[in-house]
Amino acid sequence: MSLRIIKTSDGSDTIFNSELNETYHSLNGSINESNIVYIQNGLEYYLNRKKENNIKILEIGFGTGLNFLLTYIFLEKRNEKIYYHTLEPYPLPNEIIKKLNYISKIGNQYGDIFNLSHNLKNDKKNAVTKKIDFLKSKISIEDIALSNNYDIIFFDAFAPSKQPSIWNKKNLNKIYSNMKYGAILVTYCSSGQFKRDLKSIGFEVDVLPGPMGKKEMVRAIK
Ligand SMILES: C[S@@+](CC[C@H](N)C(=O)[O-])C[C@H]1O[C@@H](n2cnc3c(N)ncnc32)[C@H](O)[C@@H]1O
Repeated sequence: MSLRIIKTSDGSDTIFNSELNETYHSLNGSINESNIVYIQNGLEYYLNRKKENNIKILEIGFGTGLNFLLTYIFLEKRNEKIYYHTLEPYPLPNEIIKKLNYISKIGNQYGDIFNLSHNLKNDKKNAVTKKIDFLKSKISIEDIALSNNYDIIFFDAFAPSKQPSIWNKKNLNKIYSNMKYGAILVTYCSSGQFKRDLKSIGFEVDVLPGPMGKKEMVRAIK
């Protein structure tokens, strides 16, 4: 796999995968994208609406760990407890992770949690703080047998044009069956086929303004 760090327009890094000819985030700002799609329109929306305490998040694609880092930061000022379960069949090499500029952009105080999230053993649940249980499974969405009633899905796979198999109805059905009623799935993707598939499975699909450079994003509710 050939990977190269590149800068996005908010100054934060992302990674370019030349085999797929695809980046890990929007070129219009990786931190900006993660914050809007997953934190603001996902986690914050859900917590403000559901007022639940022990919530379960499933992330499809841990990658750089940016969504987890921003989740950790968001929860610092709140009392909720979460279980963060993330899937990553192709963990990034350490040489790449070490060079990402998220900590210098966001704050040195977050270096430890960022490194910890990458260094923890795969497939073992850990209490990383009093509020967060964390599990990183080295397995694909296709292969995992899910057994939790998740509250929030961070669907952050590569685009359907690059990895169509991840977005297929079999995976979406599996995810749907492992969500609570009222749970949400958020993603930067708003392709027509994806929205039609979500609806045919039973999701209610909300189309929201996307992060900079992207007209729309999707929040689907079970
Ligand atoms: C668009 S990147 C985003 C990653 C991450 N959320 C981030 O902020 O860096 C997509 C991620 O999905 C992972 N991935 C690829 N195939 C997958 C699969 N079948 N199931 C789950 N994740 C997969 C990739 O290795 C990559 O890390």
